[in-house]
Amino acid sequence: MVRRVVLGMLALLVVGYVPLAATSMWFTVLPGFPRWQEDLDAWLGGHAYAWGSGSVAAVRTAAYVDHRVALLVHTTLGAVALCLLLAQALLLRRGGGPGSLHRRLGWAYVGAVVVSMLASFVFLLRAPHLAVPGQTGFRLQLWLLGLSTLGTVVLGVLASRRGDREAHRAWLTLSACFLLTAPLLRLLWSTLGALVPGHTMLTNLEVSAVALAVVAPGTGAALHAWTSSPVARGGRSGRGVLLPVAVVGVVGEAVVLLRFAALDGPATPALYPWFHVVPMLVFGLVIARGRPAAWARLGVALAVVPWAVLVVALALEPWLGTAESLRAGLMCGPGFPLVASVGVALAARRSDDRPGAGYCARMEQSNREQGRGEISEVDNLGDGGEIEPGDSVAGHPHDRDVQEGATGPDARTGDQDQDRDQDRTRR
Ligand code: HEM
Repeated sequence: MVRRVVLGMLALLVVGYVPLAATSMWFTVLPGFPRWQEDLDAWLGGHAYAWGSGSVAAVRTAAYVDHRVALLVHTTLGAVALCLLLAQALLLRRGGGPGSLHRRLGWAYVGAVVVSMLASFVFLLRAPHLAVPGQTGFRLQLWLLGLSTLGTVVLGVLASRRGDREAHRAWLTLSACFLLTAPLLRLLWSTLGALVPGHTMLTNLEVSAVALAVVAPGTGAALHAWTSSPVARGGRSGRGVLLPVAVVGVVGEAVVLLRFAALDGPATPALYPWFHVVPMLVFGLVIARGRPAAWARLGVALAVVPWAVLVVALALEPWLGTAESLRAGLMCGPGFPLVASVGVALAARRSDDRPGAGYCARMEQSNREQGRGEISEVDNLGDGGEIEPGDSVAGHPHDRDVQEGATGPDARTGDQDQDRDQDRTRR
């Protein structure tokens, strides 16, 4: 069900945004070609919102014309990458991959992403800097986003070459979440144009960038926690740590909010951190309802997020000043702990895989103790808190009361009566 919703949203986003993005720079070579993104913004937020002095079109059109080759390459291949992402997701959904088509689509995606990101770096290096509050932070975020998109693609390819499917899936899911920031950013700023008529487009661009700084890496990390194997989730239940972790997170958020409130003004609007707090609360609720062992690590990362915002702001303060560094902290800080949580989960799993360590040792010991048959992959679920139907090899898909039992060989299916079966065997 969740998979279907995620896939439906991805399809809507890609199908709706690709025509706007792919043609967005054609006006630079075909004078008079329509600018559909701006038309949409004008329809939702009014003419002044789309074309007035606080709009992207007003402050960026000249730079787009001057650096049209880099941006034509960036937007065309960015659109191709989004289409390939959707094709890959549909293929996996239909059970078509991994296979040779999966590989071919994957390599095409890697090529499109790498060249599109390199072209965006060319633009970032060569286009003039915008002397508008918040734009330095936003540009830093674009650098970080481009490097994160590239870095996760490289890690995904390396994992695939090692034959590590889980790491491959985790890194490429994160990469896809970063890539989807582009359409989501525009969708958010267009929607906010209709919802918050008082804001200029540049203000809405910034608050959208603040929200997406949490949403993109947070969604990638949450999808990993949700889909990872029981071993990668970490053995023991994490429910016990969630309360102290939540306290650390709430204190951090309070410090961020107070810091902005104390400096409230045009350069440091007290409203900005709320665009970071709202997605944090949503993730917090998801974690509180999630499977304990699977989500504890993500909960810790989320609690570290506000502290990462403050550390990044502090590190940038000597160069950017207090106001700009705080905005940059909100846009650049959250990704560090969230991406690190995926890396730590994968590394912990790998060290568990070493012969004689963790998971392998538990499997061997369990094998010795039971002295029969093969040990189930879900043997360690007893350590991981409540076993859910989705965890069970032979669990019932709908009925939470029906579980496979202690270990794989003893597993029963949804309509088996174990006591009756044992009686029969004895007889
Ligand atoms: C996720 C990594 C991405 C990064 C780091 C990135 C970076 C950039 C940069 C630096 C600009 C110029 C912004 C400016 O200063 O005005 C830009 C503009 C643009 N990018 Fe991307 N981009 C990314 C993904 C994408 C994707 C996947 C698409 C989809 C086609 C896309 C479509 C566009 C469009 C249409 C523009 C034109 C200007 C605008 O509407 O803001 N980008 N991007």
